[in-house]
Amino acid sequence: MAGIDGRCAMARMKILGISGSLREDSYNTAALRAAQELVPEDVVIETFDRLDEIPPFNQDDERNPPERVVELKQRVMEADAILFVTPEYNFSIPGVLKNAIDWASRPYGDNAWAGKPAAIMGASVSMTGTARAQYHLRQSMVFLDMHPVNQPEVMISNAAERFSEDGELKDEDSKRFMTQLLDNLVEWTRKLQSAA
Ligand SMILES: Cc1cc2nc3c(=O)[nH]c(=O)nc-3n(C[C@H](O)[C@H](O)[C@H](O)COP(=O)(O)O)c2cc1C
Repeated sequence: MAGIDGRCAMARMKILGISGSLREDSYNTAALRAAQELVPEDVVIETFDRLDEIPPFNQDDERNPPERVVELKQRVMEADAILFVTPEYNFSIPGVLKNAIDWASRPYGDNAWAGKPAAIMGASVSMTGTARAQYHLRQSMVFLDMHPVNQPEVMISNAAERFSEDGELKDEDSKRFMTQLLDNLVEWTRKLQSAA
C-alpha cells in the first residue's frame, strides 16, 4: 500500500487467536483477551470463537464441509499468524480444539494451517500449566507443517490465583512472558514473510 509520501506503509499484522475452552469463565479465553491488549500497536489479534458450532469431524464430509468450517479455514488462511490458547484436558488438548484443527487440515492437499507461523500458550489450575497439552499440540503442528515459536513457553499455572474474579489477568510475570511471546511471534512472522 503506497503512503501519501510515496513510501510503502506496512500492513497491520493480523493474528488469529483461538481458545480451546468453551467455558464461560475460561482462564484460557481470559488469557486470549489479555493477549489482545499486549500485542504491539501495529498488530491485531482477532478471535475465532464458538468451537462448539463445528460438528464432529467426519471424513465423508471433508470435501463438502459445514459452513462454520469453511469460515474457519478462510479466517486461518487470511491470518498472518495463529495464536492457540489451550487448556489441558487429560494431558492433551480439548477435543473441540483438535476437532477444529482436524477439519481445517482437510481434505489432503488443502491444509489451511500449512506454513503458518504460530504461538501456543495455556492456563491451567494445576502446577504444570498446560505443559503436556502444549507438547501434544506441537506434535500435531509437525504434521500440519506449521512454524511455532519456541520461546518463551507461556504456561500459566495455578490460574485461579492469577486472574481476578471477572477474568482479568492480574499476574505481572504472566503478562511479561506473554508480551515476550507475542513480540517473538511478530518478529518470527515478519522474518518468514520476508523470506517468502
Ligand atoms: C476433562 C478435564 C480434564 C482436565 N485435565 C487436566 C490436566 O490434564 N491437566 C491440568 O493441568 N488440568 C486439567 N484439568 C483442569 C483444567 O486445568 C481446568 O479445568 C481449567 O480451568 C480449564 O481451562 P479453562 O478455564 O480455560 O476452561 C482438566 C479439566 C477437565 C474438565
